[in-house]
Amino acid sequence: MTEETPTKVDMEKIVSLCRRRGFVFPSSEIYGGLSSCWDYGPLGVELKRNIKEAWWRAVVQERDDMVGLDASILMHPQTWAASGHLEGFADALVECKNCHLRWKADDLAGNSCPSCGGELTEPRLFNLMFKTFMGPVEEEANVVYLRPETAQGIFVNFQNVLNTTRKRLPFGIAQIGKAFRNEITTGNFIFRSREFEQMEIEFFVKPGTDGEWFNYWLEERLNWYVKLGIKKENLRLREHAKGELAHYARACYDIDYLFPMGWSELEGIANRGDFDLVQHAKSSGKSLDYFDDDTKEHFIPYVIEPSAGVDRPLLAFLCDAYDEEPDKDEIRVLLHLHPTLAPIKVAVLPLSRRENLVKVAKEIYADLRQHWMVSYDDAQSVGRRYRRQDEIGTPFCVTVDFQSLEDNQVTIRDRDSMNQIRVPIAALRNTLQAKLSGEELFVLPPGGMIWKGGNE
Ligand code: GAP
Repeated sequence: MTEETPTKVDMEKIVSLCRRRGFVFPSSEIYGGLSSCWDYGPLGVELKRNIKEAWWRAVVQERDDMVGLDASILMHPQTWAASGHLEGFADALVECKNCHLRWKADDLAGNSCPSCGGELTEPRLFNLMFKTFMGPVEEEANVVYLRPETAQGIFVNFQNVLNTTRKRLPFGIAQIGKAFRNEITTGNFIFRSREFEQMEIEFFVKPGTDGEWFNYWLEERLNWYVKLGIKKENLRLREHAKGELAHYARACYDIDYLFPMGWSELEGIANRGDFDLVQHAKSSGKSLDYFDDDTKEHFIPYVIEPSAGVDRPLLAFLCDAYDEEPDKDEIRVLLHLHPTLAPIKVAVLPLSRRENLVKVAKEIYADLRQHWMVSYDDAQSVGRRYRRQDEIGTPFCVTVDFQSLEDNQVTIRDRDSMNQIRVPIAALRNTLQAKLSGEELFVLPPGGMIWKGGNE
């Protein structure tokens, strides 16, 4: 992180919006919460699902050189000896001899406890993996670990995927799933937690071609964030210095985002060489070779790993989308979320609760919800309802008014510009589909018009 901080949004506003509108709650809140664990509420779960679906679509569905996997969280303990996590996945901690608080040695400038000023012990290594026991007997032989990264599930399945899919190099395996780390320093809301989700790719290539594939994935992944609406100036690539590289990495870049607390990692892209496959082959005694049909050579592939979290990108999408505008005597809070990510795509708003109006509005609602997450809101003035939708990033509101009963038309109101068009109900679904895919608001279907009679 650096001293450079954006002025646009502070973290308190994001945390407050997330609580207020049901994006994210502290875990087990009625018991006082559980440190660094978070629960995603009704809107948060939709946003998270949309992020994961957009990633899966980009890296699996739309490519012919990638397949998916869903490995179990608990893995054979030998996995973690082979991968180096048992030995290397540790932080150096110091303990205060007075108040017994523990601190990450790297985070401290001086030699005294930041809390009470007491004397500190020499640094000791602390492994970040959570341990548990398999079966009823709690003894050392039954220890298993909650995976600290999803990546190892991919490496141990390399031959299974190769044999069952007949994929040839270069190809990748993608996985989304939970990971757990007993982090010493947590905080900044969902940025660093102890239970989180990852979206990881292990892309297997012929040694010697790893440099070009590394550059390819840097660009590909950076563009993914930009396509989904993150401003370019809030993203950067940062190369890891030699001393900073993880034990398995030959080279690594972070994609950093300018969060409210400064530049911080969203995703890491590493060249892992053949480290993992060699280690697992040695440790398991199973061959993890690849046979090249063209050159008739056996070799162990190199791996390029674009490894993203889900929670950090979610926080970045929220921070980047957050906006406030003067609105008469109040402030309009809005999220300019990309339509692909918006938790609710369309809100249906009947102008009143009169029976004949409600009937039409409910029919529209029933039709649209077969295609997207749609909300129905008939409480308070339509202006207030628009504001509620703006605050959660709903791209379009459909208003059903008394004229709708006569002309079979409704208005579509755009979140960002607040402009409105009026379209025949029969053309509504296709029009919304086009707008959600990026068509300009004022491109009208037959019978549609630009609407001047808005209610804001
Ligand atoms: N397999 C490589 C690997 O796990 P990492 O840089 O340790 O690399 C990858 O993690 C991504 O996982 C990070 O860029 C971040 O988005 C996410 N991540 C890691 N630790 C996290 C934590 N404690 N809380 C939330 N997200 C985390």
